Amino acid sequence: MKTTQSQNRSSKYIPHKAAAEFQPTMDWTREEAESLYLDRIFTFEVDVVHFCDCIKGMKTLPTESIDMIIADPPFGLNFNEMEVLYNRDSDFVAEGYTDVEIENYADFTENWIKELPRIMKEDAGVWIFSGWTNLVDILNSLRANNLILINHIIWKYQFGVFTKRKFVTSHYHLLFAVKDEKNYFFNKIEHYPLDVWEINREYDRGTKKNATKLQNEVVQRCIDFGSKPGDVILDPFLGNGTTSIVARSNYRHYLGYEINQELEEIITNNINQTKLGKNYQPYSEKPDKIVKEARKKFGK
Ligand SMILES: C[S@@+](CC[C@H](N)C(=O)[O-])C[C@H]1O[C@@H](n2cnc3c(N)ncnc32)[C@H](O)[C@@H]1O
Repeated sequence: MKTTQSQNRSSKYIPHKAAAEFQPTMDWTREEAESLYLDRIFTFEVDVVHFCDCIKGMKTLPTESIDMIIADPPFGLNFNEMEVLYNRDSDFVAEGYTDVEIENYADFTENWIKELPRIMKEDAGVWIFSGWTNLVDILNSLRANNLILINHIIWKYQFGVFTKRKFVTSHYHLLFAVKDEKNYFFNKIEHYPLDVWEINREYDRGTKKNATKLQNEVVQRCIDFGSKPGDVILDPFLGNGTTSIVARSNYRHYLGYEINQELEEIITNNINQTKLGKNYQPYSEKPDKIVKEARKKFGK
């Protein structure tokens, strides 16, 4: 594991020079990552998906057992709207999407968020995706349960539903919150990580899936910044199993809940097709654009 080199504050500031010298806070070779994954021992079952209500499921987990949580809860919109929003052909949308009535959304949100602090390790973080319509309920429940907001990220994507009298929505909110603002895990893998992420949605029309699949790339960023190899990442609302797939392909353990039994085949196939560690690459081998350009400029 490498740590960041301390900077010499008395030296003259040269724009972008710091980016050329950037090192991630933590980094692991493929062998190190694999052994962190294989050597981890758990007192509860991991690398498993439970088809049940996540609120009931989380109550059975041991206290302070989870390293990171990624949650993409139902948005409290009706399903027809979702299909349009996601621009899907309904032939390829899996049956039985479970949403929550708008009038119950605040209670639903409070009920799942209140389960988090007990199961999170002291330095764990939770990353929650939200549209803007019910964002207020998520923010209120985070506060009510003493989870401290560290970042409010905007995920900007390329399209939205055509509108006549208002702006086209083309972003999600991604909230990063922790139990202890003085002691939480964050691996700074980029020199200048902004809180606006521009990641396009894919049109993958030929595959059957739950209509609301997240891009792997967005989940990958959460996992890269918010966890270490060998960690266990919980997703209470698995959908297509995106979190499990990205976790497994990066030497992280996963644990997830999904209430819609219709998704079992999709999730199981997706996980079975995912080779352990297949996307893992040490961060030093994949510098971001700013670092790459700075290195070119300064001949590093
Ligand atoms: C927005 S989707 C998640 C999509 C997922 N992130 C992906 O990339 O495929 C929300 C999922 O939560 C599931 N769900 C709704 N209520 C639930 C509950 N109480 N417990 C577990 N899953 C639930 C829905 O069936 C749906 O698949």
